[in-house]
Amino acid sequence: MAREFKTVGVVGLGTMGAGIVEVFARNGVDVVAVEVDGAALDKGRENLRASTDRAVARGKLDPADRDALHARVTFAVGLDALRDVDLAVEAVPERLDLKRHLLAELDRVCPPGAVLATNTSSLSVTEIAVATERPGQVVGLHFFNPAPVMRLVEVISTVVTESEVTRDVQALCARLGKVGVSVADRAGFIANALLFGYLNQAIGMYETGYASREDIDAAMQQGHGLPMGPLTLLDLIGLDTAYQVLETLYQRGGHDRRHAAAPLLRQMVTAGLLGRKSGRGFYTYQAPGSSRLAPDDLTPVAAEAGHPAPRTVGVIGSGTVATDVAEVLTAAGVDVVTVAGPGDLAARDLAAVDLVVVAGLSTAPVIDVAMATGRPADVVGLHFVGGPAAQARLVEVVRTVRTSPTAVRAAHQLCAAFGRTAVTCGDRAGFIADALLLPYLNDAVRMLESNYSTADDIDAAMKLGCGYPAGPFELLDTVGLDVALAVQTAIHRELPEPGLAPAPLLRNLVTAGRLGRRTGGGFRDHAG
Ligand SMILES: NC(=O)c1ccc[n+]([C@@H]2O[C@H](COP(=O)([O-])OP(=O)(O)OC[C@H]3O[C@@H](n4cnc5c(N)ncnc54)[C@H](O)[C@@H]3O)[C@@H](O)[C@H]2O)c1
Repeated sequence: MAREFKTVGVVGLGTMGAGIVEVFARNGVDVVAVEVDGAALDKGRENLRASTDRAVARGKLDPADRDALHARVTFAVGLDALRDVDLAVEAVPERLDLKRHLLAELDRVCPPGAVLATNTSSLSVTEIAVATERPGQVVGLHFFNPAPVMRLVEVISTVVTESEVTRDVQALCARLGKVGVSVADRAGFIANALLFGYLNQAIGMYETGYASREDIDAAMQQGHGLPMGPLTLLDLIGLDTAYQVLETLYQRGGHDRRHAAAPLLRQMVTAGLLGRKSGRGFYTYQAPGSSRLAPDDLTPVAAEAGHPAPRTVGVIGSGTVATDVAEVLTAAGVDVVTVAGPGDLAARDLAAVDLVVVAGLSTAPVIDVAMATGRPADVVGLHFVGGPAAQARLVEVVRTVRTSPTAVRAAHQLCAAFGRTAVTCGDRAGFIADALLLPYLNDAVRMLESNYSTADDIDAAMKLGCGYPAGPFELLDTVGLDVALAVQTAIHRELPEPGLAPAPLLRNLVTAGRLGRRTGGGFRDHAG
């Protein structure tokens, strides 16, 4: 029989702690909620109140249940209030010295049998545990943001965690309606080890002017169906927390340059731009803590009207993608001249078209084809993201070093004419959406290859912890392992970082003909 945790202490009521209090209290557990001072305590209480009021307003919580939830929570300043708890969970800022000090204090105050848990995202649970006299009773209990919504909890056991403690904490997760995934103590565990390289890369794209913040976010949200774009997610996480997590991942994870925090992130933290909680991060919000955007200097102005969409378009490319694109354009009333590929260019007359579109060459630079046309200023790449052109909601308009602003504008009008969201980006391997997605998929393969976790748990972690519509292995089997390998190879060729090299397991599966669903098997077998 797993032990029952009747009273739980939560230390630190910021972005995560207030949500963790809500999760416990909603599920019948008495909570002692602790902060450093009165002002922070009031803020934590207010966070809890606002979140439960929102749940009531949305019909997700009964007003009577909300009142019962609040009646289960006692608020206090200082750790002395934790004398009778069965479990204490800390959610203070992501700093090792602070957490070690706090755990040593909790060890002193809490009853001898109590379990101590850290909500750290990236720090070593082992180093935190050994600051106490009871390292066998210390675990990582990593909730996801927002804690009341995300169903995943990573349960981290160190080499000295007692197995009954892990079992009891897993049973508690089930009681809270969460899915506990057990992992060992490695930097970033499953989800953050796969998430933060991607987030940091998105900051880099924005910082270098490769694409706008809105376009980067739209590419991932609309192109790949993620619940929010990376810069919006960073604002939700809190840029100070994100910075600390990247620092730790970089130090503990073998100095992978992809985890070296983008300079802009550090500057923003120094300037107090911490995301939603401070009212401004990559975006500006109506008030600190609000999720509602307020327009700022970077908010795009609505496109000027009056420029008609191009009437005649040349489509360069062969195969199904070019055919699909030509069909979508034709259905939107555009006259289409198709050209099989660069070799065929000389034979076709593109003089009469208003715009030249390169379709389906997602691993080759658009400029290669553009130069072959003899009119590179009129050439844009159109990359349909999220399925065949007829289904894809997002189109990346690829601007080469020779594309004219007029051609970019014309391409956007064209996309508007056939009802797609268009984003603009430079001519780099993977453009925006695949350049951000593929390295993450490749990292997931490396994680599997290292036997840190299973394909099922990794898929579950990304779906239940980050709200992704599919886990990395489900997605790889759908997209095709050969397609993923080709794009990742192109990305690595352009940027030969060791961390971007295609995972050997991915290569081997492709060599073995296991390409995913369409061959009956990839990472998993697919019958029929
Ligand atoms: N933000 C996220 O998305 C997220 C997700 C999962 C895990 N985490 C982890 O949760 C932890 C907290 O992160 P956060 O984003 O909620 O931080 P935060 O800055 O929003 O909140 C931290 C809170 O801790 C309080 N605090 C500081 N020292 C304290 C002390 N000695 N005693 C009591 N309270 C104290 C602060 O007053 C503040 O309210 C970190 O370890 C972080 O890595 C964060």
